[in-house]
Amino acid sequence: MKKIVKGLMAMMMSGMAMTSSGASASEGVEVNHLGVSNTLVRVTGNGRYLLLPVQESIDDARVNVLVDGKLDKSINVKLAKSKVDYFVPFDLSPYKGHEVVMNVVTTQGRSTVREAKDDACWKNMTLSDSFDTTNREKYRPAYHHTPLYGWMNDPNGMFYKDGVWHLYYQHNPYGSKWQNLSWGHSSSKDLINWEVQPEALEPNGLGMVFSGSCALDTNNTAGYGNNAVLGLYTSADASQTQSLVWSNDNGGTFEFYPANPVITLETEARDPNMFWDDDAKQWVLLLAHSLEHEMLVFTSPDMKNWTLQSSFGKGIGAQGGVWECPDLFKLKVDGTDEEKWMLICNLNPGGPFGGSATQYFIGDFDGKTFVADTDTNGNIPTKWMDFGKDHYATVSWSDAPDNRRTVIGWMSNWQYAAEVPTMQFRSANTLPREIGLFKGSDGQIYASSAPSPELLALRDKLTLNVKKINLGKKMRTYNLPADNGGICEILFDLDARKSKNVEIELKNNVGERVVMEYDAVAHTLSFDRRESGVVDFSQDFPAVTVAPTFETDNKISLRVFIDRSSIEVFGNDGRFVMTNLVFPTEPYTRLSVSSQGGNAKIENLRIFSIK
Ligand code: FRU
Repeated sequence: MKKIVKGLMAMMMSGMAMTSSGASASEGVEVNHLGVSNTLVRVTGNGRYLLLPVQESIDDARVNVLVDGKLDKSINVKLAKSKVDYFVPFDLSPYKGHEVVMNVVTTQGRSTVREAKDDACWKNMTLSDSFDTTNREKYRPAYHHTPLYGWMNDPNGMFYKDGVWHLYYQHNPYGSKWQNLSWGHSSSKDLINWEVQPEALEPNGLGMVFSGSCALDTNNTAGYGNNAVLGLYTSADASQTQSLVWSNDNGGTFEFYPANPVITLETEARDPNMFWDDDAKQWVLLLAHSLEHEMLVFTSPDMKNWTLQSSFGKGIGAQGGVWECPDLFKLKVDGTDEEKWMLICNLNPGGPFGGSATQYFIGDFDGKTFVADTDTNGNIPTKWMDFGKDHYATVSWSDAPDNRRTVIGWMSNWQYAAEVPTMQFRSANTLPREIGLFKGSDGQIYASSAPSPELLALRDKLTLNVKKINLGKKMRTYNLPADNGGICEILFDLDARKSKNVEIELKNNVGERVVMEYDAVAHTLSFDRRESGVVDFSQDFPAVTVAPTFETDNKISLRVFIDRSSIEVFGNDGRFVMTNLVFPTEPYTRLSVSSQGGNAKIENLRIFSIK
C-alpha cells in the first residue's frame, strides 16, 4: 500500500512538472521535466549551435536526438549538475527547418523532480551562432595538431591526395572524455597548419567509430570510381566488426557500404589498416587481434570480400597488453639497396615505461605472411619507436608523395590521458615524423623517426647562436625565448668523448624542471619529469624515461621541440626519440648544461623561437 502511494505521488509530481515547460531555460530552448531522470528539450529558437553545458566529474546523460519525431542520433553527454566546466556545441545546421527534440535521460540519483530542475545544465543550455574556440587554455599546444574541442585519441584513416594531408582522429565531439567515438577530421597543406573539417564519421547502428585506415582506390577495385577514397574502420558495440566506407569528395563525407560489416570474428579485432599490393594486385589488410596479442593478415580483390591469410605475433615481442593499431610498409635501409618491411604493433599496457607504447618488427612480407628478423641468438627482439611515455597509436599516411613514410602519433598515454590538466580539449598529436631504416652497430635494422622537413618552416627568430662551448662541472645557463611562452626549438651537437655524464636542464622561475642526462658509458639519454610542474593528477605521470642513443662514439646531435605541454627530443636524425608531456605552471625560461667526470664539448647551440 505504502509503495503505491509513493508511486502515485511521484506521478503527480512529474505531472506537475509537465506544466512548467520552459521555466528555467534560456530563450529559444524549451525544457520540459518529465520525471526525476527524464527531461525533454525542444529547440524553438534560431542559432547554429545548441551549447551543451558539461561537468566533467559526473555520469553521462543519454541524449536521443529526434528530428521531426524520428531518432537521428544518440549521444552521451555529461550534462552539468552543480557547475559548468565548459560547453560543447551541438550543431543544428543540418536540421534547419525541422523540429528538434532531445529526450534526455540522466543517471544522477534524485528523489524529486524539483531537484532535477535545479541542475545547472537546463538554464545554461543556450542557442548561439558561435562557440568559444579561442584556445585560451594555457596548455593548448601552439604548433601541434589538437582537436578544436573535445576528447581525442588515435590518429587514423590518414591519406594524402591532391596536395592535402588528411588526418582523422578518434574524437568525442560532446566532451573531453572517451565517449561517442567518431572520426574528427583536419586537413593541411604543410603538416603544420591544420584546418578543422566537419566530423567525417559518426556512430551508426553497428556501434561507435573506432580506428581504421583510408587509401585511394586507383584501380577502381571497389566500384566507387577511380581514386575514390576507401576507408575501413572498426564498428564497436557489444562486438567489434569491420565496416567499409567510401568517399567521392576527397574524404569530406563518407557513404557506408550497405552490406557492412565486411569482416566479423568471434573475438575482439580492430583497427584495420590496408594497402594496395601492386605485385599481387590485391588489397592487404592488417587487423589487430587484440586479446590474442597478434596481428591478422587478410587479402581482398575488392575491399568487400576478405580472406584470412596468416597471423603474426603469438608469443613474440612485448605481450604485456592488448595489440592495437597495426601498420605495415616497405622501406629501403639507409645507404643500401636493401628493402625491408616494418610492422608496427601498438601495445597497451606493457610499454617500457608503463602504459601504452609503440613496438615494431623488421622483417619480410610475401604478400600473405610477415616473418620477423631474428638477432644473432635467433630471438625476435622487441623494438620501440619512441622512448617517452607519450607516443601511441602511431600509424602512417597512405599515398604520401615522393615515397615518403610519414607518421603521426597520439601524444598521450592510456594510463592518464583522461586526467591530464586540460579541459575543453584533451590531447594533441605528436609532430609528424619521417620513418627511415638504419643498421645498428649490432647488425640489426632499426627504424628512425626524424622530424618532417616541413617543420623547418616553424622557425622564427634565432634567439641564441653559440658556436662552441667547452663544458665542465660548472653549469652554463642560457635563456629560452620569453616573449612567446617559451615555445621553441633547441638544437646542438654534443661531443662527450671525454665526459661520463652530461646534464641538460630546462627550468622555470618557480623551480620546476626537466632534467635530461646523457650517460656516456651506457650510451643512453634519460628524461626526468618528476619535478616538471603539475604531476600529481596521476601516480603514473611522474617518471623517468630512457632511450638508447644508437651510437658508439659518444657524439649525439639533438633537436628538442617545446610546445607548452610537450617536449619531443630527436637524437641523431631520429635514430632515437623521446616524447613526453609536461605541465609546468609557468613556461621554462632557462636551459642549463654541465658535464661530470671530464669535459664535454657543445657545438652549434641554436635556439629558435617558434611562431
Ligand atoms: C587504441 C584504441 C584502438 C581503438 C580506439 C578506440 O588507442 O584502443 O584499438 O580502435 O583506441 O578509441
